[in-house]
Amino acid sequence: MTLRAAGIAVHFGALRAVDGVDLAVGPGEAVGMVGPNGSGKSTFLNAVTGVVAARGSLEVAGRRVPLGRPGAIRRAGLARTFQSPQTFRELTCIENVLLADRDRHATGLAGAWLGRRAMWRRERRRWARALAALDRVGLADRAEEPAGLLSYGQQRMLELARALVGEPAVLVADEPSAGLDDTETAELARLLGDLPARGVSLLVVDHKLDLVEQVADRVVVMQLGRVIADGPPAEVWRRDEVVEAYLGRRGAARG
Ligand SMILES: Nc1ncnc2c1ncn2[C@@H]1O[C@H](COP(=O)(O)OP(=O)(O)OP(=O)(O)O)[C@@H](O)[C@H]1O
Ligand SMILES: [Mg+2]
Repeated sequence: MTLRAAGIAVHFGALRAVDGVDLAVGPGEAVGMVGPNGSGKSTFLNAVTGVVAARGSLEVAGRRVPLGRPGAIRRAGLARTFQSPQTFRELTCIENVLLADRDRHATGLAGAWLGRRAMWRRERRRWARALAALDRVGLADRAEEPAGLLSYGQQRMLELARALVGEPAVLVADEPSAGLDDTETAELARLLGDLPARGVSLLVVDHKLDLVEQVADRVVVMQLGRVIADGPPAEVWRRDEVVEAYLGRRGAARG
């Protein structure tokens, strides 16, 4: 499995925000995660990316990785984008992507001098990779501009480039369509939809069910910290417990 999370539990005092969740994402698979506000989706993603203390076990790209270790989890091949974009506004777009690249060797001065040909080769490769990642999200022509000059939608795309530059085995995206207009959402759906074919598995949380249905082969529905349904989107939407927990809100949201 590309991502296997078992028995994940996160408690905040008496609140069981995530209450024993098992979830596996296979190679080349795209899984959507939906559920009402506060059902524990972001907290689950925080648990599997190691940024919140959690119980359970985690496997990334077939290897056991300890929970609570964001760096190790990232190096194992799990990348993540956040509910609100995390970019460095003063740095240029390409600098933002370079900083996210996991191939960052600390050579030291002497090592850099002795190995300078190798270092330059590696630097050139890093820049080429960063530029390719920007190109993939349509930002290649903004490479030298400060990230702060980008529109909100473009910042979300920059965040996606940062997540993809290290060629992760799996991307975990929290509400990537939040704040995007229809055109930007369509572009996002195209980008996310392409990932599995490029060898990047996907776990995407989003409130836009159309987007989820477009990119995901399978949907997991969360309620009160638990998985209440797991299956192909068209089938899952029809289940009574899902209609009750979630689709009522969908109807309401769509007026
Ligand atoms: N750091 C925290 N401390 C205390 N409670 C928290 C913390 N983070 C989240 N919670 C609570 O845990 C529950 C799950 O929240 P979470 O953000 O995971 O929900 P969500 O499914 O992502 O919701 P949304 O769709 O609104 O993003 C909520 O009741 C929330 O208030
Ligand atoms: Mg959330």
